[in-house]
Amino acid sequence: MSQVHICEVGPRDGLQNAKHLMSTAAKKAWIRALADAGLKEIEVGSFVPPKLIPAMADTAEVVAFARTIPGLKVVALAPNLKGFQRALEAGAHKVTFPVSASRQHSESNVRMTPEQMVEEVRKCAQFPHPGVELEGAVSTAFGCTMQGAVPEDDVVRIATALAQFCDGVALADTVGYANPAQVRRLFSKVRKAIGAKLEGAHFHDTRGLGLANALAAYEEGVRAFDSSMGGLGGCPFAPGASGNVITEDLVFMFEAMGIGTGIDLEKLFAARKILVEAIPEEPVYGHTPLAGLPKGFRAAA
Ligand code: COA
Ligand code: ZN
Repeated sequence: MSQVHICEVGPRDGLQNAKHLMSTAAKKAWIRALADAGLKEIEVGSFVPPKLIPAMADTAEVVAFARTIPGLKVVALAPNLKGFQRALEAGAHKVTFPVSASRQHSESNVRMTPEQMVEEVRKCAQFPHPGVELEGAVSTAFGCTMQGAVPEDDVVRIATALAQFCDGVALADTVGYANPAQVRRLFSKVRKAIGAKLEGAHFHDTRGLGLANALAAYEEGVRAFDSSMGGLGGCPFAPGASGNVITEDLVFMFEAMGIGTGIDLEKLFAARKILVEAIPEEPVYGHTPLAGLPKGFRAAA
């Protein structure tokens, strides 16, 4: 049977853009419930200056907690060497770096050009990090709200540079510009350049194409997906960005197709309840949790 691997990014991508702060205790309860539902990888926060994103100020404590959950791969985002060192100290299993293919977004997000950011990630890769995985995530790979079109050659060039020293490379549609034809074309191009180093797909549902794009990527051979519970998410430094592809709907789509995710939908809905109760004023999305599972629904074996 076919399988996909889903990384829940709600505690990072979701909460960084939420209007309401979630308490550290609620983050821990939510992460535990997500792991109970079968998620094997969770991006629990980012190591950025707390003044810049106050919602991420407790990431070290959240990482330390998440590490105690058996079998869970704990991921954190870092924008520079200082963030990487903080992530290592806290005990993250995997660190992801946002490397924008758009110069304008890169400068707005990390105050570095894409080339400078690639060099920053290279410095991190050269810093001792025994057993810790590095992921280079090419952000705004499908277009940028500031720059507009992002040349595919720029994406291929950055992915190729990152593949030299990262364990894996992901393509991210930070602002929800991608369409399925573009997804197939760009994943195929980047795969030709870097082969199996191309792993993850990170989609936002800004224009309602999140699931269609995920399916297009699946058909192109992608088996690792980021998604966010309740469709929370978005980059505070990319105008017009909104939530990620919704975990609940993504899991439903794959399971209904007979593609295993390892995730139990009923338990996922229980984790959603914890999220909603923790930040009740924050809008959450998702078709499957509202409609319920179809009568006689059978998950992939
Ligand atoms: N964690 C905590 N503090 C950090 C830090 C980090 N990762 N990186 C830098 N700092 C501190 C510095 O020590 C310095 O502190 P000081 O004023 O007390 O001396 C201060 O922040 C400024 O450092 P500097 O290196 O000049 O950073 P900057 O102001 O140019 O900002 C980034 C650069 C990369 C740190 C910032 O743009 C950033 O965090 N971007 C990521 C934003 C994000 O999370 N986007 C969404 C996810 S893609
Ligand atoms: Zn994102």
